[in-house]
Amino acid sequence: MVATSVSSKFPVSDRVAEMKASSTLAAMQAAEAMRAEGVDVVDLGAGEPDFDTPQNIKDAAAEAMRAGQTKYTPTAGTRKLQQAIIDFYQREFNATYERNEVMATAGGKQAVFNAVVCLIDQGDEVLIPKPYWVTFPEIVTFARGKSVFIETEENDFVLTADMVRAAITPRTKLIILNSPSNPSGRIIPPEEFERILEIIAEHDAYAISDECYLRFVYPPNKVFSAASLRPELRRRLCIAGSFSKTYAMTGWRVGYSLANADWTRAMLKVQGHSTSNTTSIAQAAATEAFNGPQESVAQMLSEYTRRREWLLNALNEIPGLRCPRPEGAFYAFPDVRGCLKGSMRTSADFMNALLEKEQTVITDGAGFGADGYIRISYATSLDRLQEGVARIKRVVGRL
Ligand SMILES: Cc1ncc(COP(=O)(O)O)c(C=O)c1O
Repeated sequence: MVATSVSSKFPVSDRVAEMKASSTLAAMQAAEAMRAEGVDVVDLGAGEPDFDTPQNIKDAAAEAMRAGQTKYTPTAGTRKLQQAIIDFYQREFNATYERNEVMATAGGKQAVFNAVVCLIDQGDEVLIPKPYWVTFPEIVTFARGKSVFIETEENDFVLTADMVRAAITPRTKLIILNSPSNPSGRIIPPEEFERILEIIAEHDAYAISDECYLRFVYPPNKVFSAASLRPELRRRLCIAGSFSKTYAMTGWRVGYSLANADWTRAMLKVQGHSTSNTTSIAQAAATEAFNGPQESVAQMLSEYTRRREWLLNALNEIPGLRCPRPEGAFYAFPDVRGCLKGSMRTSADFMNALLEKEQTVITDGAGFGADGYIRISYATSLDRLQEGVARIKRVVGRL
């Protein structure tokens, strides 16, 4: 008999073995597991709105289902959704896009994934400003590229063109920008954004602008999309957009990309051989989201504004903690290094102490490339925020 040796270890490919699991999804799962055991968890980890999807959007999905729109659609999305995306950018940013530059995706995450894997080859450098959304470097790893991080802490996490100029090399192929930023809530000023794209163009490189939090900007800052840049800069740009946060539609999984026709054709190839179209019914919902009334977005922003004011004051009263004012999105990103004492040495220890002693979920900044910081989501009710801050105070007070 021939002896067979079966390895108990599954031979995961190198590119996937090198990827880290998502720390934000891990935080969500930790909260979910505790809730299932009946624990009174305060979840300040979730990167999703606590609001329900607006009724007109749900109605559009129900109607699509009743009308039998339950079949495959083109990989790029239905004509109606493509048109709704084109119309939105024309209306809001005076930006003209053709149909062959637009595709619907299963969330903004898939748009970023498609864009990176269609551009990056082994060893290509990808500039990623810190702190970054956890997924960016992992997609670059998957694509066999090399993430080159840009430090921005000295400028309160606001990226400047000079920082990009200092980091760019002849091997740079791409920069991934995210404004408003998850996790810092920082915004890249529009004139700086334009200078960054000029530098990218000078170096024959490309840019992804992740505009997932596009509409959640607090005055006096204004909503800005890279779509409004001049056409020769836009040629180098892929916008990754999302319906998830703006319309409280995280579970529906609809996003989109806007990029030149060649880049889009490549992305269609990847998506056509992986997930195909995003859900037909969700596409009908997203079409209504862009074409229908927009009051719900303003209402959500006004509620986030109220929570932000309360949270910032409350956090800055905690001895040792320093929290700058977020300019967009719905995250506070305080520096907790001034609170670390005794056995609590890192922001990860801070996160674990909160979870174990006070059943409160926050996200460690280290996963975003900013050790010493924590991310607190205020996409949760003011009551729960107040309870969460009381618990944070108790943990800090005990040190
Ligand atoms: C910066 C950023 N980009 C993209 C996404 C992806 O969102 P979705 O795939 O739900 O559209 C998120 C979600 O947290 C995000 O924070």
